[in-house]
Amino acid sequence: MPFAKITQVAHYVPENIVSNDDLAKIMDTSDEWIYSRTGIKQRHITVDENTSDLAAKVGKQLLAQADLSADQIDFIIVATISPDSSMPSTAALVQAKIGAHRAFAYDLTAACSGFVFALATAEKLIAGGYKRGMVIGAEVLSKSLDWSDRSTAVLFGDGAGGVLLEDTGTQPLIIAENLRTDGSRGDSLTANYLALNPELNGQVNHVTEFIKMDGRAVFDFATRDVPKNIQETLEKASLKPEDIDYFLLHQANSRILDKMAKKLGTERSKFLQNMQEYGNTSAASIPILLSESIKNGKLSLDENYKIVQTGFGGGLTWGTLIINL
Ligand code: ACO
Repeated sequence: MPFAKITQVAHYVPENIVSNDDLAKIMDTSDEWIYSRTGIKQRHITVDENTSDLAAKVGKQLLAQADLSADQIDFIIVATISPDSSMPSTAALVQAKIGAHRAFAYDLTAACSGFVFALATAEKLIAGGYKRGMVIGAEVLSKSLDWSDRSTAVLFGDGAGGVLLEDTGTQPLIIAENLRTDGSRGDSLTANYLALNPELNGQVNHVTEFIKMDGRAVFDFATRDVPKNIQETLEKASLKPEDIDYFLLHQANSRILDKMAKKLGTERSKFLQNMQEYGNTSAASIPILLSESIKNGKLSLDENYKIVQTGFGGGLTWGTLIINL
């Protein structure tokens, strides 16, 4: 059975930067409040590029770095909760934009766990015989933010990151995985509700399209269920936290990472962090962090690093992959 290998990584964020001080000019907030509670200093917010534009830039970079032509790609999965449209999918738009006419393409929706779920899925496609695919997490969450709601508007940012997956591995890419969903707690984090036609059923739509969040409930979920999930995955693989080189977790909040490190009894410095620069970019946060860490030399694709990737977010969804890089 062929083993998948991540052979390239890339990320792209819009140029336009919005700092905490910029936000304090348009809403009742402050750099002190945002930074002390979340670790976020700024975020990149797109002005003229939609989700498929960000994702296509990542796709083009992956091709250029690998010196491949677009028709050598077999599949494209885009993890997103902020697609350009529900039809065509963002992945289909990316396929057209990069000219990968042989590739089948689809979106995967698992909120901030999207990239982890997509990478787990793509690994099975490679095991099943596909040679080469792209897994991209891409979000323009600024489309779904209520800019008058300071409790959510300060948290999120736009961006995209992705990997090229090829069938050239010499060992399993995923040592252990543990993907979870609990739809019964879905109400704590919602966005983009599509109402029934009121002309047909006479009902008034009281549900907003904006991101709404019960911050406390999400914080509790992230600091209770998620470390347990990581611990269980480590046990599955007969590994201990000290066997892991780095933990690349969804970048929601630095206090969540502090708690996670404490619960796992691991040095905080092993939990890589870049939300200070990008905010929470949902499905894009882990691939942006991975790509940045490889580009700045913290990680390498050639030195057999063992990393943990953990996503958690709306659904509720959460999940961990232990990866041989
Ligand atoms: N600036 C200033 N004050 C604010 C802001 C803001 N941006 N937002 C809320 N406040 C105020 C509130 O109105 C409240 O005021 P009050 O006491 O007068 O009523 C006060 O600050 C405290 O509000 P809380 O919501 O209780 O603040 P908390 O300390 O819980 O921090 C936060 C909020 C940062 C969202 C926290 O709950 C958290 O980290 N939750 C995790 C959720 C998360 O990270 N979500 C990201 C998306 S989900 C995901 O990616 C998994």
